[in-house]
Amino acid sequence: MAKDMFTRNSDESEVQSAKTIAFVHYKGGTGKTTSCLSIAGWLVKMNKKVLVVDLDPQGNAATGLGVDRRAIDGSIYDVLFNRKDIREIILETEPGVFLVPSPINFLSAETYMARKIRKINNLYNLKEKLNLIKTYFDYILIDVPPASTLTMISGIVASEDIIIPLDSGVFAYETLEILKKLLIYLHKKTGIEANIRMVLLRKYSIDARTANEIKNLIKEFFEENNILSVRILTIPFSRKIHKAQMYGVPISHSAPHSSVGRAYKRIAGELGD
Ligand SMILES: Nc1ncnc2c1ncn2[C@@H]1O[C@H](COP(=O)(O)OP(=O)(O)O)[C@@H](O)[C@H]1O
Ligand SMILES: [Mg+2]
Repeated sequence: MAKDMFTRNSDESEVQSAKTIAFVHYKGGTGKTTSCLSIAGWLVKMNKKVLVVDLDPQGNAATGLGVDRRAIDGSIYDVLFNRKDIREIILETEPGVFLVPSPINFLSAETYMARKIRKINNLYNLKEKLNLIKTYFDYILIDVPPASTLTMISGIVASEDIIIPLDSGVFAYETLEILKKLLIYLHKKTGIEANIRMVLLRKYSIDARTANEIKNLIKEFFEENNILSVRILTIPFSRKIHKAQMYGVPISHSAPHSSVGRAYKRIAGELGD
């Protein structure tokens, strides 16, 4: 357990609760983990106390923060199944980001989940667990797994804001339609309205004109759905991201001055306001 884990967050003037943000998309590979870690790294550099909660059994958040997954002996699933207190399993990582890891054994976790699914069939379980530690942090960033599973929904329920990373392929727009259906379903079932704060559009090997057209389509999508406060920001494609992840260091620490590093700095700055 990290030593200064249970000191208060960086706001000395009054007891503040962490801002909780989930990185959500039902599709894999759109940049959820990358965005979550890059923003976490920058917020730490801005002297914020940041916790990343890895809900994805692939465990990419741990790897991306340089944590040897074999050394993990308690995960978010232990917390959700009431086997461990969340305070017991938080790790402090080398870049200064705190981490609630996902389980190391993907298969056993999935099997366990399937067997016990009814036990955690409480969409508020994660939110309640995070409420216990909210005054220790300035930000809690949740890396949510893809597919419309219960875990994904509980990540949305636990958050004040959500950020949707998108790959800027021509299908990006269609994937938003599906996500919208999921959010409408969630609203019907629970009354919870997800607050979409940002869409992060990752540029790929498309020309600037196409990228702009896609951005406009996405903008229209939100306008048509009366979601006007959402920010649509682009993230450059950069091999520096791969290198950073290979060495287990967020881009904020490995290449802060690169174009992709600066793009994430701007986003962290906006969230910090
Ligand atoms: N801005 C970027 N430039 C280049 N590669 C990126 C960028 N963002 C993410 N990637 C790469 O894309 C892949 C998917 O990103 P990831 O963050 O793991 O997506 P998700 O968590 O949504 O599945 C990873 O291999 C990652 O290294
Ligand atoms: Mg991921």
